[in-house]
Amino acid sequence: MTTSTGSTPKFMLEELNALSAEGLGIHSVVDIEASASGEILRAETVVQPGGGGGPLHRHRFQEERFAILEGEIIGRIGGSRLRVRAGETFVVPPDAPHTFSVEADQPARFITEFRPGLRLAEFFAQLFWLADHGHVDAKGRIHPLQAAVLARAFPREFFYLPTIPAALQQAIARPLAALARRRGYTADPAGLAGPAASVAAQGNGNAARGDDRRVSHPDPSAPADRRAIEPGELWENPVTRERAVIVELPWQNSEGRAVAELTALPGARVMGEHLHAGLHERFSVLDGELTMVRDGRRSVLRAGDSAHIEPGVWHDWWNEAEADAVVRVEIAPGERFVHMIETLFGLAREGHVNSKGMPSPLQLALTAQEFSDVIVFRKPSRWVQRIMFGALAPIATRRGYRATYPSLSRTTMAPRPTHAASG
Ligand SMILES: [Fe+2]
Ligand SMILES: [Fe+2]
Repeated sequence: MTTSTGSTPKFMLEELNALSAEGLGIHSVVDIEASASGEILRAETVVQPGGGGGPLHRHRFQEERFAILEGEIIGRIGGSRLRVRAGETFVVPPDAPHTFSVEADQPARFITEFRPGLRLAEFFAQLFWLADHGHVDAKGRIHPLQAAVLARAFPREFFYLPTIPAALQQAIARPLAALARRRGYTADPAGLAGPAASVAAQGNGNAARGDDRRVSHPDPSAPADRRAIEPGELWENPVTRERAVIVELPWQNSEGRAVAELTALPGARVMGEHLHAGLHERFSVLDGELTMVRDGRRSVLRAGDSAHIEPGVWHDWWNEAEADAVVRVEIAPGERFVHMIETLFGLAREGHVNSKGMPSPLQLALTAQEFSDVIVFRKPSRWVQRIMFGALAPIATRRGYRATYPSLSRTTMAPRPTHAASG
């Protein structure tokens, strides 16, 4: 360190860089949702040969753990080097100077976990956002003043140089950050704090806090599922406990109507209060009971009862009885709705949802925008959703999320026999 004003930012940049640098051969998918629980931050990372974690650094409060899935890394703690192979785990205690590198010919793939995650996911999100929005130089480094502001905003999460006390590094960052703020730099360039706080405080209307430790998304380049959808098929959401037998497909009648016989097991619940802007939904209870809230009014539908949900009417339903509810559901027009349902059920089947069947915020940002013509959730408020999804969508896209996935989209990818039913 030669001068205080020069070296600290350079260090910061190198460290920040190391997290997202294509140049260092690192591609990391961070489980950003985990920040809400404050428990564990998990990232799946692939590092190309020659890549690595940059210079030695310290996480003041976090243990960092590398579980190697494929290939191997050289882990370093202080002066010692350790070869860590697939199936093995490399654990770095809090405040220990460390880094890693990939020196073999093969890429290494591993899961990194930070405990406690604190606000590390948010910190990562800011870095990725900066990279995504061109706030980096030719080497992918963010501006020193931006780094100083982040160091001040994330004192527990920041990556500190091993040889200089963290308190001193913070002291150096302080005047730089003050200067930076006068020049318009902010600690929240991605604008995530508002929506994140709002989600943490209100929930997304559905998700329970602490059950959000789920990662990633289906492979967007996995082969499409081209099996034609046939009446009589059972579609199941293992998380929300909804089961639907397809009765009629939209392309089999002139109204574009989709009909399914839904079995809602005891405790089954739709994902949250919602409306459909452009379609009609009809429920006819065949067996059991369905508790329904329509436009704020609650009622219990029993066998023989039916309910027509007009476009634009807020509604919610669940089964609070002790027996299954069997309900005929008609949606018109239903094609887009069916595509959404198969996407959500598919995500649930593959484990990409929380305990209420809600996808991660990153997934939701894309899927909710895609299907806003079909369904709108009441909570959080529309403006919060707009801000949140707007901020998260580019991050989600960058991480490989898609609104829908070919492997889950038979509605759009598979052939459509039209002869199976009449009007
Ligand atoms: Fe680290
Ligand atoms: Fe609905």
